[in-house]
Amino acid sequence: MSEHAFAVLRQLSNGGFHSGEAIAQQLGCSRTLVWQAVNSIQQELGLTVFSVRGRGYKLATPFHWLDVASIRSGLSIEAAEVFTLAVAERTDSTNSQLMARASNGVLHGLVLAAELQSAGRGRLGRCWQAKLGSGLTFSLLWRFERGMAELAGLSLAVGVALARVLRRLGAPITLKWPNDVLLNHSKLAGILIELSGDALGPTAVVIGIGLNVDQPGEIDQAVATLSSANVTINRNDLLAAILNELHLVLSHFNLYGFNATLRQEWNQLSAHLDSTVNLSFARGEPISGIARGVAENGALLLETSQGLRAFHAGEVSLRSTA
Ligand code: ATP
Ligand code: BTN
Repeated sequence: MSEHAFAVLRQLSNGGFHSGEAIAQQLGCSRTLVWQAVNSIQQELGLTVFSVRGRGYKLATPFHWLDVASIRSGLSIEAAEVFTLAVAERTDSTNSQLMARASNGVLHGLVLAAELQSAGRGRLGRCWQAKLGSGLTFSLLWRFERGMAELAGLSLAVGVALARVLRRLGAPITLKWPNDVLLNHSKLAGILIELSGDALGPTAVVIGIGLNVDQPGEIDQAVATLSSANVTINRNDLLAAILNELHLVLSHFNLYGFNATLRQEWNQLSAHLDSTVNLSFARGEPISGIARGVAENGALLLETSQGLRAFHAGEVSLRSTA
């Protein structure tokens, strides 16, 4: 990608016309480099730029950047005390970045959001893809006094926090065990939790969230977007609202774990409660049964021909039979 692509995009962000010469002057580079950057913005970042002789370049749609001050202005007093915000234009993966810093004693409450990830990760080594500006991709580092063994229900608790925010905005989302947020049966958001610490002692947790506001590009399964549900919200306000809710839910989880209150809420939001589902595993035959909610340790409870069985997230994937 052209090294000037992001700088040129910043110049074009307001959606007005900007001459190649004026941009080149601002950036202290040649007009050829500006032209190459515009090509990168179109071909590699997937944004449309109009080029009109005598007027210059113009983005088809203005681009709204993630911005620390705007996010901060939407935080509650309590959340603002805890979160330290950072925005990267591009990085490999916000989870990888925070995991690398977790072992260096990096701050509790550090949030890193990226405009673009080159190696966004999902569960089980899968990829998370998102076009520039199409949604939110961010991670936060949280230190728990609990050992790893007691953090099993955490991705479900984070799902509840996301669900509260998205439902308040009018998106009738549901949750799919263990880490997906669905809208009209398609994936709107995913949660990736990674731990650094030992089984009993304090644990640093990196919570990564990817959420589609607009179409994220070509994905190998059906995806949902907030815009398709007619929810229009600025990404900075959305991130602030999610951080406020995460602050509440993570503080609750730190004290009480994935207790009856959160569990009941998760079960009510479940896309599959009392439906027949298939569980598939990295090794071995799939198992089918009726989803009967989740346990305190985050396990999925499945009514099978051999009775009620509990499954832990590990290498399990749930698929609807409908
Ligand atoms: P599981 O039920 O095992 O969690 P999953 O298909 O949701 O299955 P994950 O590892 O949770 O798998 O998520 C990664 C998958 O999400 C990718 O393989 C891809 O199919 C899908 N994906 C990637 N980017 C997006 C996106 N922006 N929006 C929706 N889905 C995406
Ligand atoms: C999943 O659905 O399996 C989880 C997807 C999590 C994606 C987010 S995007 C921000 C953070 N950084 C990553 O590399 N992954 C998470």
